Amino acid sequence: MCGIVGYIGGKQAQPILLNCLGRLEYRGYDSCGIAVSANAIEVYKDAGRVKQLAGAMPKLDGVVGIGHTRWATHGEPSQINAHPHLDCSGNIAVVHNGVINNFQKLKQQLIGEGHNFVSQTDTEVIPHLIEKYYHGNLEEAVATALRDVEGSYAIVVLAAGEPKLVVARKDCPIIIGIGDRENFIASDVPAILDYTNRALYLEDGDIGIVTKEGIRLRRDGAEVKREEHRIPWSVEDAQKAGYEHFMLKEIHEQPKVIRDTLGDYTQRAEPAMLMDTGIESMLILACGTSYHAALVGRYIMEELLSILVRVELASELNYYVPNLAKTGAIAITQSGETADTLKAMKKLKDMGCPVLAITNVVGSSASRIANQTIYIRAGPEISVAATKSFTAQLMVLYWLAMSYSKVDARRLAGLIMGIRQLPKKVQQVLDNEDEIMKYAKYLAGYENAFFIGRGINFPVALEGALKLKEVSYIHAEGCPAGELKHGSFALLSKDVPVIAIVAQDNTYEAMLTNLKEVKARGSPLIALAEEGDEDIDQLADSVITVPKGDAIFSPVINTVALQLLAYYAAKQRGCPIDNPRNLAKSVTVE
Ligand code: AGP
Repeated sequence: MCGIVGYIGGKQAQPILLNCLGRLEYRGYDSCGIAVSANAIEVYKDAGRVKQLAGAMPKLDGVVGIGHTRWATHGEPSQINAHPHLDCSGNIAVVHNGVINNFQKLKQQLIGEGHNFVSQTDTEVIPHLIEKYYHGNLEEAVATALRDVEGSYAIVVLAAGEPKLVVARKDCPIIIGIGDRENFIASDVPAILDYTNRALYLEDGDIGIVTKEGIRLRRDGAEVKREEHRIPWSVEDAQKAGYEHFMLKEIHEQPKVIRDTLGDYTQRAEPAMLMDTGIESMLILACGTSYHAALVGRYIMEELLSILVRVELASELNYYVPNLAKTGAIAITQSGETADTLKAMKKLKDMGCPVLAITNVVGSSASRIANQTIYIRAGPEISVAATKSFTAQLMVLYWLAMSYSKVDARRLAGLIMGIRQLPKKVQQVLDNEDEIMKYAKYLAGYENAFFIGRGINFPVALEGALKLKEVSYIHAEGCPAGELKHGSFALLSKDVPVIAIVAQDNTYEAMLTNLKEVKARGSPLIALAEEGDEDIDQLADSVITVPKGDAIFSPVINTVALQLLAYYAAKQRGCPIDNPRNLAKSVTVE
């Protein structure tokens, strides 16, 4: 996944393009570049971050330009593979996000027709195709070129002497930011918020012709209109609001995110079409942290809806044919752009299964594929490690299950009271940050760790381990506590701490037994337990106390504590918390 930008207006494009790119580095940050045109196109690109590039770059003159920050898929991060890419004449420059599947075939064809290629990227075929079809009308040439392309793309095209930018998308996000006698193009909202909060979201197959004066959208050769969106997020939303890292800022935003997401749905009695189609079983699909939210969702839905719920990794769903009789599907994806999840959604839809998407990004591909979309209200999540989006996804799953629940009125009233208390309880966990920081500094001294839980907190153990792995580079494994004795016990020793999630529910007694077994094998033991639990104090070396509450909501409270544990362990180890190595915010390749 990459971040692409474009600017056309009255101001010098170079500083604007660099600023917009800086805001998109969470999408990929291994190399970057810009191209600016006055009469001829000038390109400056290299491996590394935007800041470095800006420092080394000469002044480029021009009021129209494009830019790119990369997460390599084809061709290693290097100056030659960085974008923008040019045609033979150097008069056409392209930045691209996505993957061109048939680029090898196209490249051979074009080389056969005399085109010279310089990079190993898939992208470079695009400017050469446009050059092949250019007969004075840039958007026509782009449209023809894209007919040859198979794969996913969001592109911005700059041509020397042309007072316009041409933009197009298929399966990758692109927005146009509307300014006053200037316009902006970007892969995502944070890039344009310094300049405008008015945006157009292109649909797959749309081609946009963007000039200083205006924007024209075409589709299959005909003019189309797209609804203008006012983005409710301020620049600050996209900035760190004073926190050292986006991850810590986003962890602390969770009480507000819970209120925003719940607030939005308890007000609007918008039926979830899925629940009204007489389905008898649910299939929830997702990847990574969203998959862990799906696993918690199964416990919630099976308890409140009494229907069969299957949870599948989207990347695996592509390899078998699920029985979908009377089944509805829910796809959970923060970015709305995760390739594995989108592919699985399309497969299920093609098999006639209704698909509801739960996503954070308005206008994302998932929201286009799904029959209905429920947006979480997490705001922009910049840090690669998902935190607030997980909590917001759970809020939607609770809302769905409670809205259609089969439980008696007394239980439902208890649930409504419990969920309304969540923002306060999460704030209590956040207020206990210093204590958690203490245990995190201790944990930071280890290279391996286990997280264990049972029942609805088993997925929380998986999520705690994923967070620690992602940001602190400590090898961590989430494990159902009952499984330890079937093998993982062999790894326990004084060098392998265990973090145990102990909830006051039907798993409590069994968890106490597991804690004794862990201590007997010499592992340092950190327990996450409800305040006032004396038994735990006797057993664990350290106890992170969390507020009491209805066990069905404990995954929210416990996960926030584990997010802080991972954050402060990573901080203690000096890790690049917001941009962990080898990772990107959403994975748009399979
Ligand atoms: C989580 O911290 C990671 N960023 C990653 O596992 C992520 O949850 C996964 O790639 C799914 O992303 P999505 O929710 O945007 O589809």
